[in-house]
Amino acid sequence: MINLRKILKLEGKIHNKQKVHYILLLLSGIIIGALLLQSLNTFRTFSKEGQKTEVCMKRLQNKIALVTGGSCGIGSETAKMMAKEGAYVIVTDIQDEKGQELAKEIKGEYYHLDVSSDAEWKALAEIIKKKHGRLDILFNNAGIIGFNEALGPQDPENVSLESWHKIHSVNLDGVFLGCKYAIGLMKQNGGSIINMSSRSGIVGIPGAAAYASSKAAVRNHTKTVALYCAENKYNIRCNSLHPGAILTSLWDPMLGNDEVARNKVIAQIAGGVPLGHMGKPEDVAYAVIYLASDESKYVTGTELTQDGGILAGSTAGPKRD
Ligand SMILES: NC(=O)c1ccc[n+]([C@@H]2O[C@H](COP(=O)([O-])OP(=O)(O)OC[C@H]3O[C@@H](n4cnc5c(N)ncnc54)[C@H](O)[C@@H]3O)[C@@H](O)[C@H]2O)c1
Repeated sequence: MINLRKILKLEGKIHNKQKVHYILLLLSGIIIGALLLQSLNTFRTFSKEGQKTEVCMKRLQNKIALVTGGSCGIGSETAKMMAKEGAYVIVTDIQDEKGQELAKEIKGEYYHLDVSSDAEWKALAEIIKKKHGRLDILFNNAGIIGFNEALGPQDPENVSLESWHKIHSVNLDGVFLGCKYAIGLMKQNGGSIINMSSRSGIVGIPGAAAYASSKAAVRNHTKTVALYCAENKYNIRCNSLHPGAILTSLWDPMLGNDEVARNKVIAQIAGGVPLGHMGKPEDVAYAVIYLASDESKYVTGTELTQDGGILAGSTAGPKRD
């Protein structure tokens, strides 16, 4: 420690003028020290900025992602967002023309894949293994509700067994097969599987029994896959998504083609959503990006909802005037 008194007094041998010199010297020393500290801090800030640049690096940089049902709606929006975030995206669907166009746009590749076909999954897994050597992300997105596909009534009293099986084959078998083949492609390097369930996988839907049942099974299978992969130290995470009321072509049969009638139904649906409007495909895509990225490295077996608050509870609770 500098003994100021000692310096100032200097055993009484120093002249007043000299004392002033010493004080000035001391002050300039303090100022120079402060300036040095300041510049060190600036340097540190620069270093932090440097780290920030690293964090701001694209969130899926160098990852290879596969999206099923990627030709339209939520799948297509997610494929685009994944590509923007640096992933190489393999788009698959049964609507080949749209899928090919999208793959071209995002500089990825497209394959026809009916998710309910074991043979098609097997063949695609072999192609991916040969071409890329691995898979980092699988978005098991493809799904049907049964209305667009003219599968007849969907309520539990009238749905046909054939229709029930068809919907489960796409929504549930498709996810099961996707997980099965993805585990094989991911277990060397780890990865993230995101399974598309629905709010209907958590609550009952009187008008869409098979859909709700298949989505509930997806919700549960996700947890089984998550635990199995953890047990085997594969570093593969598996999570499910639970969107509700996302405006895509899935809703077309319920909305119809007439603009006025369509807007009326949309407003009716929006009235039942706590946030007051239907969601957009991007609202789900953002959640996929999070679950696909390393930001969610400690998240597995979980359920993430994108439903404007529908599942948060009934709006029929007591209200204040
Ligand atoms: N839109 C919503 O409100 C909502 C809510 C909850 C869950 N989801 C789920 O999100 C997923 C995507 O739905 P969306 O709203 O984008 O609907 P969408 O109809 O726009 O997209 C579904 C996609 O799946 C494809 N597909 C259908 N059968 C297939 C099969 N056998 N193999 C491969 N691809 C097939 C379709 O061609 C289409 O591209 C579905 O699983 C759906 O159940 C949607």
